[in-house]
Amino acid sequence: MRFPRLIILLAALLALAGCSGQRSVTVIKLAHGLDQSHPVHLAMAYFGERLAAKSGGTMRVDLYSGAQLGSERECVELLQLGGLGMTKVSSSGLEGFAPEFRVFGLPYLFRDDAHRWAALNGPVGQEVLLSAEKRFLRGLCYYDAGTRNFYTVNRRVEKPADLAGLKIRIQESQIALRMVRALGAAATPIAFAELYTALQQGVVDGAENNPPSFHLSRHYELCKYYILDEHTAVPDVLLISTHLWNNFTPQQKNWVQEAADESAVRQRELWGGATEAALAAVRKAGVEIIAPDKAPFRDRVAAMQADVAREQPMIGALARRIEEVRP
Ligand code: GCU
Repeated sequence: MRFPRLIILLAALLALAGCSGQRSVTVIKLAHGLDQSHPVHLAMAYFGERLAAKSGGTMRVDLYSGAQLGSERECVELLQLGGLGMTKVSSSGLEGFAPEFRVFGLPYLFRDDAHRWAALNGPVGQEVLLSAEKRFLRGLCYYDAGTRNFYTVNRRVEKPADLAGLKIRIQESQIALRMVRALGAAATPIAFAELYTALQQGVVDGAENNPPSFHLSRHYELCKYYILDEHTAVPDVLLISTHLWNNFTPQQKNWVQEAADESAVRQRELWGGATEAALAAVRKAGVEIIAPDKAPFRDRVAAMQADVAREQPMIGALARRIEEVRP
């Protein structure tokens, strides 16, 4: 009996000695609400790869997709409490945490993609990105979420008047609420993960989102019309809890920021193809894609835009600065 015990003790000591020579690994949990084949998820997987490479394996990202750890709002709240390291949400979902993000919910804010990226990557975009830091949320980068378009279960929409009386799901965003009302429909905030059932049960008659999210959420199984009115271009945001960030060494902060920036570049490369593929897939499944004249939509929201700018001067000022950006 004594001999095996000695061996066990020795083995344990050796194992311990082995451990002391190993570097510890900092694991970052990153949770979000999208599907694993979504270009935004693929970009976050790339973020993890880059971070592991830069840190020589001393930092690792564990990804949790599909709202496994909660809705966007719940994940943001977990970051604030320090219970989760990172998340990725739509800017719209941040409106309640940092009002600056409301500016991106304004319809037809960007003239085109070049204008949008010059604004997001320039001083005004970076200021908004860091505006939630006092609320324990540090923005690391923007991801492309394309343009948002209406989709409906069974109403063919070609002009704003066709939206009259429809119940449209929105994100938790007061700007989206005002926009949908200005277009003549009723707005109902619902978490993204609960929307499939809400459409199925007739709680809402439609929603709005970019093509990859419309496709990968399988909402197209229930909604037969997708209307390319391109009312907003609300970017996604990669966030880290300041409870975690503030404990990093300057070197770790650099690695994380660089990996995020590289993932943002990769994500924008993936976006165009993913959008085309999503539109082709839903069309094949029988969805009618309608390309309406955008002018009547733009006209219908003009007064609402002016009201927001007057009532909320900080948002008005940000919108003006964005307008002045020249790519
Ligand atoms: C986009 C965005 C998601 C968001 C979703 C929504 O797809 O990328 O982060 O959850 O819109 O409408 O809720």
